[in-house]
Amino acid sequence: MSKIIKKIKYTWQVFRWFVLDNLLHSEVKKVGHLFLIMLKHYLGARPHSAIIETGNTCNFQCATCPTPHKLIHARRAPMIMGLAEFQKIIDHIKNYVHIVYVYNSNEPLLNPAIVEMIKYASQANLHTMISTNASLLTEEKSRAILNSGLGEIRFALDGLTKQSFEAFRVGGNFEQVIGNIRQFCRLKQELKKHRPIVTLQFILNRYNQDQIPDIKKFAKEIKADKLYIKPFILSPYAYNEEERKVLSRKFFPTKDINDEEIVYKKSVYGFS
Ligand SMILES: C[S@@+](CC[C@H](N)C(=O)[O-])C[C@H]1O[C@@H](n2cnc3c(N)ncnc32)[C@H](O)[C@@H]1O
Repeated sequence: MSKIIKKIKYTWQVFRWFVLDNLLHSEVKKVGHLFLIMLKHYLGARPHSAIIETGNTCNFQCATCPTPHKLIHARRAPMIMGLAEFQKIIDHIKNYVHIVYVYNSNEPLLNPAIVEMIKYASQANLHTMISTNASLLTEEKSRAILNSGLGEIRFALDGLTKQSFEAFRVGGNFEQVIGNIRQFCRLKQELKKHRPIVTLQFILNRYNQDQIPDIKKFAKEIKADKLYIKPFILSPYAYNEEERKVLSRKFFPTKDINDEEIVYKKSVYGFS
């Protein structure tokens, strides 16, 4: 696909999700908020997004995580933010940003107040987004999230077989995660919710490099709004050179991949 067509497709998608969908679902205030913030952004060089990490811990120990457990916990004790503190932050930033990423290096669903936090931000007309490993997504939690006003949810599913998933997502259970993702998407259809936008994320690695057609099929099957095939990284701040060599040999894809969703060149991304 040419770069221009990709750009047009992307622009249309952004317009549809952030403007059209909201107008069609009586979220006029959110659209007004977006325009105001974008005006401040372009005219006043202000930011349009913020990241709030509501905890600094995760229930997985992914083999190549850019923020590995050992490193975080050596520097900071595991902590979870309370609702009042989150609300204070939102009150401070709500007139300055439109998009709030309610996660960073943590698993957002570990925070027991996450749904209330999202609701609070959404009621302030903000677009919220989380990325999750989906392991804690019970039916009750899924229904609560679907009713929270969350703008986007990203499911990190880096393998479509037990072996490939669990080699990369250490601590995860393949059947549980894929079952939770299916259930969430089924409930979204049943409840006829236009939000959250569902993104399926697939980090390309040696164990899943042959599954691109399968992940595309799966994304269609669950009616995901977006599939994000992500290049693999090994952060130099997280791993020393020796560790990166070992992880690289184990996890970097062994093939060049040329696909409309991703172009992966071993020589560009690899680490030898
Ligand atoms: C540290 S996780 C935290 C959010 C959440 N717990 C999750 O699983 O999505 C943030 C992001 O890092 C990504 N990630 C982990 N290892 C990676 C790698 N080697 N290359 C690129 N992204 C990676 C995860 O897939 C996730 O999207």
